[in-house]
Amino acid sequence: MSDSHTKAKVGVFDSGIGGLSVANAIRQALPELEVVYVNDATHVPYGTKSPEELFGFVLPILQKLVDDGCKTIVVACNTVSTTIIDELRRAISVPLIAMEPMVKPAAEQTKSNTIAVCATPTTLASKRYAWLKETYAQDVKTLEPDCTEWSTMIESNQVNHKRIEQQIHDVCEAGADVIVLGCTHYHWIEQEIRETAKGKALVLQPEQPVITQLRRVLEQLS
Ligand code: DGL
Repeated sequence: MSDSHTKAKVGVFDSGIGGLSVANAIRQALPELEVVYVNDATHVPYGTKSPEELFGFVLPILQKLVDDGCKTIVVACNTVSTTIIDELRRAISVPLIAMEPMVKPAAEQTKSNTIAVCATPTTLASKRYAWLKETYAQDVKTLEPDCTEWSTMIESNQVNHKRIEQQIHDVCEAGADVIVLGCTHYHWIEQEIRETAKGKALVLQPEQPVITQLRRVLEQLS
């Protein structure tokens, strides 16, 4: 039997290349898995689309991953996770692992009582994000820089470095000492953001907690 037949198959999904950074991190941490990465090149970017539109795009893609034998799927997209994860969980027969902005850890770690959340407009407008802030960061000042263009710039490899550095600089100047990367596309510019924020703000993104959660889910399934 070939190796691919014995490895547990896991799906990783995103609108575009954000999910690829997550798939790479999972492959590195859990080489015993077969990681199938899929994106939605037709409809990327998702960050400005409505939850209704997203559901129509995402459901058939996740169903195909299930039909192809994935035991679980990492929804490596904050935009999808914060808007339609409940509906998707009702429709899809395998566990879905969601990725959402790390508001709780950011609120726990800030010393200046100011955090910055970088995320897409649809994520920032979601009920889930409002709930995260209300529940974990009620007394924390939460800055939300305008990242509307970021995923498109990253997807097309045309990053306006100056602009991003300026925005990160501005949130640090405004007192943020924790910056949350609330969109998986931004993982590709994490180093640049860390460099800009060095000595001023921590940068959080959820790859490691997601890997821990994936391990847990796979153990339960075995
Ligand atoms: N990478 C996705 C997220 O985490 C979506 C970005 C986009 O397609 O606009 O939100």
